[in-house]
Amino acid sequence: MLQDRAKYSIAGILVATFLGYSCFLYADLPVKDQAGLQAGDKGKMIWQQYNCGACHQVYGLGGYLGPDLTNSYSKRGPAYIQAFLANGTNIMPNYHLTETEIKELTEYLRNLDASGISDPRTFTIQNNGFINQ
Ligand code: HEC
Repeated sequence: MLQDRAKYSIAGILVATFLGYSCFLYADLPVKDQAGLQAGDKGKMIWQQYNCGACHQVYGLGGYLGPDLTNSYSKRGPAYIQAFLANGTNIMPNYHLTETEIKELTEYLRNLDASGISDPRTFTIQNNGFINQ
């Protein structure tokens, strides 16, 4: 059995480590250096500000009123996306976004497109059990 003193020392070391690590982790938050953000990151913040995820999915997660936008950049192209954002439609609201906001959102969607595929993939299973993608 450990002596009481040893127990207190171990508890003290754990608490000190926890506090030190927490300070280390949270020292940089929230993001203060706006200029340091990449264009896609600014677009992501605009995405969150307007809550686009209420109707749109990213990587299959989000609202289901509008389409998944993970790969809309490569499917539709920037001009189509910008026209959509500038005008809205009967069911997609027009947010009266500024030119810069539209540019940042398009950049975010471009980064998103480069980062993954949202459509379910189709696989062919061979007789020997191997899978062709
Ligand atoms: C109220 C729900 C709603 C919100 C909120 C919303 N959208 Fe949409 N969006 C839609 C719907 C519905 C469509 C499909 C409309 C159509 O085809 O007429 C759409 C279509 C789009 C398209 C075209 C996609 C394609 O492949 O055709 C883009 C791009 C888009 N939205 C971006 C955004 C962005 C960026 C935001 C946030 C600023 C946003 N939307 C917020 C409902 C919404």
